[in-house]
Amino acid sequence: MPQQKIEIAPSILTADFGALRSQIEEVTAAGVNRIHLDIMDGHFVPPLSFSTEVVAAVASATDLPIEVHLMVEKPIEYIQSFSEAGASTHIFHFEALQSLDSCKEVIQEIKSSNSSPAIAISPNTHIDSILELIGDIEQITVMTIQPGWGGQKLRTELLSKIINLRKITSEMNLPNFNIEIDGGVKIDNIKQCISAGANILVAGSAIYNNEMTPSNAVKELHLAIKNSLEK
Ligand code: DX5
Ligand code: ZN
Repeated sequence: MPQQKIEIAPSILTADFGALRSQIEEVTAAGVNRIHLDIMDGHFVPPLSFSTEVVAAVASATDLPIEVHLMVEKPIEYIQSFSEAGASTHIFHFEALQSLDSCKEVIQEIKSSNSSPAIAISPNTHIDSILELIGDIEQITVMTIQPGWGGQKLRTELLSKIINLRKITSEMNLPNFNIEIDGGVKIDNIKQCISAGANILVAGSAIYNNEMTPSNAVKELHLAIKNSLEK
């Protein structure tokens, strides 16, 4: 049974951008824990997404912490400006940098901007590539889809990465280390995500979709989390 608080982190990629403020206010009022903003530069992944102005607009609509998921080739160039716009966690991709030294440089830059460093790994990256950095960061984001698009199906074979990371961080006596799962999280797989060891659940299309309001979706996610923890 996980001791850590399970957090919900809405990703707004599939939100109604014409009503951005109310979409953020609604999930804030429904009791989510942080907002996850997917930043895409059109190079690291094909789509383009949000600028610092959008991050600032989201920050002005909520008091919740904001994490920026930097799907960009050169994360170091964005850190200062996203911190100023209101981001308190920067998640950069190991694949954008490849070397541990470059990762350390980015981690330092994130810390210097008074933000928390986190590393994301794409489906083809093995956890061994980043184990050496665990002591320097506060969170690992395990991608369970191909980065770039919301609404894909969670690849359950990738949950073993989370199981192994949780085992390793527990052995390192880091019970509060954040392991975030990003991609395809839905009501019907929440139990699997939590039992694997994830404590932050990114939920994009599970919250922003055409079937229910964001606030009802968050209620259902809370219920699914509660049920997962009880059984
Ligand atoms: C994809 C993004 C995800 C995405 C999640 O590159 O990192 O955060 O928005 O969306 P869902 O929950 O729909 O898979
Ligand atoms: Zn993301």
